[in-house]
Amino acid sequence: MSGHRPTGRLHLGHLLGTLTNWVRLSETTETFFEVADLHAFTTGFENPQAIRDAREDLILDWLAAGIDPERSTLFLQSAVPEISELHTLLSMIVPVSWLQRVPTYKDQIEALGPEIATYGFLGYPLLQLCDIAVFRADTVPVGRDQVSHLEFGREVVRRFNYFYGETLVEPQALLSEFSAVPGTDGRKMSKSYHNTIDIADDEETTTKKVRSYITDPQKIRRNDPGRPEICPVFALHHYSNAARVAEIREACASGALGCVACKTELAETLNAFLRPGRERRASIDRTRVDEILRDGSAKAREVANATMRDVRRALKLVD
Ligand code: TRP
Repeated sequence: MSGHRPTGRLHLGHLLGTLTNWVRLSETTETFFEVADLHAFTTGFENPQAIRDAREDLILDWLAAGIDPERSTLFLQSAVPEISELHTLLSMIVPVSWLQRVPTYKDQIEALGPEIATYGFLGYPLLQLCDIAVFRADTVPVGRDQVSHLEFGREVVRRFNYFYGETLVEPQALLSEFSAVPGTDGRKMSKSYHNTIDIADDEETTTKKVRSYITDPQKIRRNDPGRPEICPVFALHHYSNAARVAEIREACASGALGCVACKTELAETLNAFLRPGRERRASIDRTRVDEILRDGSAKAREVANATMRDVRRALKLVD
């Protein structure tokens, strides 16, 4: 089980960092992928229309990445009210101090300002645990930034099972080998840094963005020897141009390959790598999105309901 918040288009970091794992898992096991619209309210509560509008792009980006709605259950968090019910019940047993200790809590308040510190925002990792636990999911393919949420989630599950008997499953994070895809400024690719290459970008935009990458600052003239190990453009060749990595490393280090030619090659291979998904994305009828989510949410509710029957029984809410 995993999910994304509908807050904008997905980029190469999402694609290489998590979506490849989603697709791989979905080929061998039952998978649930969530549009986490309630989570989007934690930081976007002033603009519900933006959350609504981002839903479609998110599903289209998933389909472009190769997620198959026939194989995986794609659902909308708010359309599965069992998640919110579980959140209310678990909130009774979770110490506030556990939530305050989750490192993303302080980090995000520092980054976004004290006005995001709502009650719901404090409970963000608990709601996330409910997304996972309501399906009794054991494996959660996510980026490294989510690891502390899963650690917290396991503690909550242990506490519940200790008080009320074995009911919920402890989830484990599944990380990708490519966790830190560099953006155009060399920092981790992230929407908030405005340094992304988006799945939905057109080829020209992709090429422009590749050209804007900051390379080794010591390689000023074409023939200057470069340091591929510190260059984000070199790092990206690993993803879309793996067969040429060794040659590029040598040619950069010896000064035979200039940054302009290196970037041209990267842009071409990246566009070729992204092309099939982009074409799929463009060919999908947008009305399909609603259908996919309606069917997926109904199916998700069936599974969630079975878990909730056990939870309600464990808590003696029903006999
Ligand atoms: N917190 C995740 C993120 O920001 C999104 C998310 C919400 C999620 N619910 C989840 C991820 C459940 C995995 C499982 O990326």
